[in-house]
Amino acid sequence: MTEKRSEFSAAELATLSSRSNLHLLISGKVYDVHEFLHEHPGGDLVLLGEGGKDATKAFEDIQHTDDAKELMAELLVGYHTGERMTTQEPKQTQIKRKTAIIFQLKCF
Ligand code: HEM
Repeated sequence: MTEKRSEFSAAELATLSSRSNLHLLISGKVYDVHEFLHEHPGGDLVLLGEGGKDATKAFEDIQHTDDAKELMAELLVGYHTGERMTTQEPKQTQIKRKTAIIFQLKCF
């Protein structure tokens, strides 16, 4: 297991999403899970689906046990720099945009 602790930008993380080089961002920490893929009790596909993204919500939705959290400590390789990555914009922004489009359609 690597001893290196680095900082990863959002752009850098986005490139680390392949089976051979898979990193996950969970609660601001970056985990190298490519070797763990085949051992993950929840399967490899769910991890691949979160590769290079902020997987915090997906991870927390499962309510992983303390065993999982101990394992994570071994997979930690660094931290996320800069702004928090989100896979989806906040609901409020989506609603505002939809309202603006409807308003424009009514006007023209
Ligand atoms: C470094 C990250 C992760 C580690 C070390 C990890 C570890 C584990 C472990 C040890 C289990 C067995 C149950 C437990 O002890 O909690 C498990 C189950 C599971 N995990 Fe993860 N996991 C990680 C990330 C994720 C992510 C990001 C997702 C979702 C995208 C996920 C989805 C699941 C699912 C669906 C199960 C099966 C739950 C069940 O069958 O009841 N895991 N994981």
